[in-house]
Amino acid sequence: MTKEKLPHIHILAMGGTIAGSAAHADETVGYRAGAIGIDELLKAVPQITDIAEVTGETVAAIDSKDLTEELMIKLAHRAEECLSDDSIDGLVITHGTDTLEESAFFLSLTIASPKPVVFTGAMRPATALSADGPLNLLNAVRTAASPDARGYGILVVLNDTIHSAADVTKCDTSRVDTFRSPNRGELGRITGSQLRFFAPPSSAPGRGTFSIPSEALPETAILYGHENESRFLVDALIEKNVSGIIYAGKGMGSISEAVLPALREAQEHGIIVVRASRTGAGAVIPTAIYPLPFIASGTLVPQKARLLLQLLSAKKMNPNEIQHVFNAY
Ligand code: SIN
Repeated sequence: MTKEKLPHIHILAMGGTIAGSAAHADETVGYRAGAIGIDELLKAVPQITDIAEVTGETVAAIDSKDLTEELMIKLAHRAEECLSDDSIDGLVITHGTDTLEESAFFLSLTIASPKPVVFTGAMRPATALSADGPLNLLNAVRTAASPDARGYGILVVLNDTIHSAADVTKCDTSRVDTFRSPNRGELGRITGSQLRFFAPPSSAPGRGTFSIPSEALPETAILYGHENESRFLVDALIEKNVSGIIYAGKGMGSISEAVLPALREAQEHGIIVVRASRTGAGAVIPTAIYPLPFIASGTLVPQKARLLLQLLSAKKMNPNEIQHVFNAY
């Protein structure tokens, strides 16, 4: 009897806690991220060979707090190359959880392939008691190998849960259930060897509509709203001539009277200002108090609103066109 050909899943490793190593099994903080190679990671999950033919390569071996735009662009290019290879059926990207949502969102904007692309990571290093990385890796490969995952765009799989790159965000500093999708909810779950999607692929807006940038993205800063604000940080950004400011405002992106005139002045200097929210959930929408050219971020958290604005500003769009794109979120 001939053995059925398994899907070919290629892994791109970026480092992170999933590849983290500590001196003792009870050390779950203060370890070195990105220390273990992809072959070692795969050795911890021999069951993976029953699901897929797996190959892998290292793109970076970083603690993802050090993620740069150059690395995200490198990752996107490599992902695109792999996805255009007919012998590869899907991709898994192992990544540090701290900025996993940024890379996943960036790829969701720049990659259009219908083949599954699944990000995963871990909250406990590979050397820890009850390390979560091996099962997360197995589940990510399971998802990438599943025909059901085709067309969903970029997915994030951790802790038996499947999320879309647009909505997922890291919500807890240390727990294994840190990734949540506060607005649209999880896309699906993995129970044992079974994958279940609860929502159709259309819940991944803006997918693959940008080409991978060939030059540095426009300089864009995030400001965090708080009580007793003053305008000096906005003044510094005007002086620096940044291209955009994401204002992580209070509640629904509200801006204090102390900062509002400074942000209006920034707009007069051609700086695009996006109102987002520091609450972590819910939408920021355009209101009469903050008309265009203020842009409202929709449900995007500030760090994702920043990436979208950078890609849009590189296209030299006007505020009306920019708002139209944010409205999809
Ligand atoms: C990192 O983001 O690289 C370290 C933390 C983690 O992966 O959980």
